[in-house]
Amino acid sequence: MPRTIGILVGSLRKESCTRKIANAIVTLFPASLQPRFIDIGQLPLYNADLETESPPVPWVAFRDQLRTADAFLFATPEYNRSVPGVLKNAVDVASRPSGRSAMAGKPAAVVSVSPGAIGAFGANHHLRQSLVYLDMPTMLQPEAYIGGVAKLLGPDGAITQDSTREFLRKYVQTFEAWIERTIAK
Ligand code: FNR
Repeated sequence: MPRTIGILVGSLRKESCTRKIANAIVTLFPASLQPRFIDIGQLPLYNADLETESPPVPWVAFRDQLRTADAFLFATPEYNRSVPGVLKNAVDVASRPSGRSAMAGKPAAVVSVSPGAIGAFGANHHLRQSLVYLDMPTMLQPEAYIGGVAKLLGPDGAITQDSTREFLRKYVQTFEAWIERTIAK
C-alpha cells in the first residue's frame, strides 16, 4: 500500500539548500512513497490561549494535513546549533491539543543540512529530542548530516555528487522499511 510521507522543511527562504536537498530526496522515492510537502511558514506562533474551540485557521489546516500523512520526513537547517524557530513552532502546533497530536505514533526520519562541516548535527539531535516527547518512532540509522551542502548542489538544485545521491537512495530505502516495520507493530 502506498504511504503518504509528510515533508516538513525548516527553512522558508526561496533558495533554501535544505529544501533543495528535500526536493532531491523526493526524486529518489519509490512509487510506494508519496511525498506531500506541508507548509509551516504561515503558522501563528504557538500560544495556548488560542487553543479554544476555534483555534487559528492555519493551525487547523496544518493539523488536518498532518493527519493525511502516514510518516514524516523532517529536513532541517541549523540555527545557532539548534532547530530554526519556524520548525520548532510547527512541531509545537502539531503536538497539541495535548493527547490529540496529529503526529503521535507515526514513523519519522530527520535529515539535517548545512554549508558547514558538522552537517547541522545540533539541529538534528535537538529535533530528535522533541520527537521522543511526541512519541514518534524516528529512524536511528543511517543518520543524515548533510554538510558542505554548497558543493553538493548544481545550479538546477540537483545533487552533483554520486556518493551523496547513493547515500540518500539507501537512506530512503531504509526509511521505507522502517515505516513498514513501525506500522506493522
Ligand atoms: C545560521 N547558520 C548556521 N549553520 C550551522 O551549521 N550551524 C549554526 O548553528 C548556524 N546558525 C545560524 C543561525 C542563523 C540565524 C542563520 C540565519 C544561519 C547558517 C545556515 O546553515 C545557512 O544560512 C543555511 O543556508 C540555512 O539553510 P537554508 O536556508 O539554506 O536551508
